[in-house]
Amino acid sequence: MEIRVTDAEETIKLGEIIGKSLEPGSIIALRGDLGAGKTVLVKGIARGLGIEDEPVSPTFVIMNVYEGRIPLYHFDLYRISGADELMGIGADEFLYGGGGVSAVEWAERVQEIFPEYTIYIDIKIPEPDDGSENTREIKIEGKKEWVSSFRSTAEQALPASTR
Ligand SMILES: Nc1ncnc2c1ncn2[C@@H]1O[C@H](COP(=O)(O)OP(=O)(O)O)[C@@H](O)[C@H]1O
Ligand SMILES: [Mg+2]
Repeated sequence: MEIRVTDAEETIKLGEIIGKSLEPGSIIALRGDLGAGKTVLVKGIARGLGIEDEPVSPTFVIMNVYEGRIPLYHFDLYRISGADELMGIGADEFLYGGGGVSAVEWAERVQEIFPEYTIYIDIKIPEPDDGSENTREIKIEGKKEWVSSFRSTAEQALPASTR
C-alpha cells in the first residue's frame, strides 16, 4: 500500500501505528535517500512499541537498543559494506532471534539478509512540483494479512493520506 504524508508529524503517527502492529521478531527494512525520513519513522515506531526514549540516528554505532513493550533494535547501515560485515559483527542474533523488533535503515545495502516475513518500507521525496517540501510518499509491503489489517487501521487514523 502507499501513503502520502504531508509533514513529519504524520510520518511519526504512521510509525506509531506500525509500531503497535508489530510482534517480537518483526523486521522492518527501511529504504530511501538521506533525509527521506527513515529515522523520523523509527521515532514513531518506537512510540508504538511503548518506548519512552526517542531514537536518534546512531551515527557512530551500527545499532542501538531501546527497551519498551517490545525492545527495538535500531540499525543504521550507512557505513556498512554489506551483509558479510553485518553478520560478522553478530547482527544475526538480534535480527533472527533477539525477541525484539528490528528497524533497519539503509536496508538496500544488505538486501540478502531479509527473511520472507520482512516488512519493507520505501520513503520517497516527491518531485518539487508535486506537493510541499514536507510531503513524502511512503510505500509499505509485507505479508498479505499484515498489510490488510494495517491498512484498515491506517485508513481510520490517517483518512486523507491512504490509497
Ligand atoms: N513528511 C516528513 N516525514 C519525515 N521527515 C520529514 C517530513 N517532512 C520533512 N521532514 C524532515 O526531513 C528530515 C528527515 O530526516 P531523517 O528522518 O533523519 O532522514 P533519514 O533517516 O531518512 O536520513 C527531518 O529533518 C524531518 O524533519
Ligand atoms: Mg536516518
